[in-house]
Amino acid sequence: MILQIILIIAAYLIGSLSTAIITCKLLGLPDPRTQGSGNPGATNVLRSGGKKAAIITLTGDLLKGLIPVLIAQAFGLSGLALALVALAAFLGHLFPAYHGFKGGKGVATGLGVLLGLHWAVGVAALVTWLLAAGISRISSMGALVAATLTPIWIALILGDFWLTMTGCIMMILLYWRHWSNIQRILAGTEPKIGRKS
Ligand code: G3P
Repeated sequence: MILQIILIIAAYLIGSLSTAIITCKLLGLPDPRTQGSGNPGATNVLRSGGKKAAIITLTGDLLKGLIPVLIAQAFGLSGLALALVALAAFLGHLFPAYHGFKGGKGVATGLGVLLGLHWAVGVAALVTWLLAAGISRISSMGALVAATLTPIWIALILGDFWLTMTGCIMMILLYWRHWSNIQRILAGTEPKIGRKS
């Protein structure tokens, strides 16, 4: 029980590290919270800081979802305990302890979590994102479609109730965080990938 609580707290603290904010600071780029959509995530860093910073952000955000889940599994966690570790890493990105609890939208960290739960779940989510974002040329569209299908991929591939519930909670939180994107998509004003506006 103590081990499980430690792993859940550690997952939250790892998820709280904002790769976007740290990367932009280290590379002398503007704070992504003051640029473009204001989101500290890879899509917005691509707009304001370029490809290199965006790739570093994407990788870091993915790893902070992946690593806590892999560590938890190495310690034998499964079911509800593993689901809480996965959710804690995701929540850390959305509500980071080190950045005033104002974080990102959870796409890359969510993908890392899914890859950790099962590579096939992560690949299914990634392919969904690539197809939806590739066709629409809109990053948030890819995220929304991928999030919608994620609970289905988890249920089909893992068949675990608690992990499927985690997929549902992540989907709802991701929709909530993308509310302004949804409004812009409906209004036809959501920027295409790489465009500043
Ligand atoms: O990764 C977040 C993406 O789905 C949307 O980001 O900056 O366009 O709001 P942004």
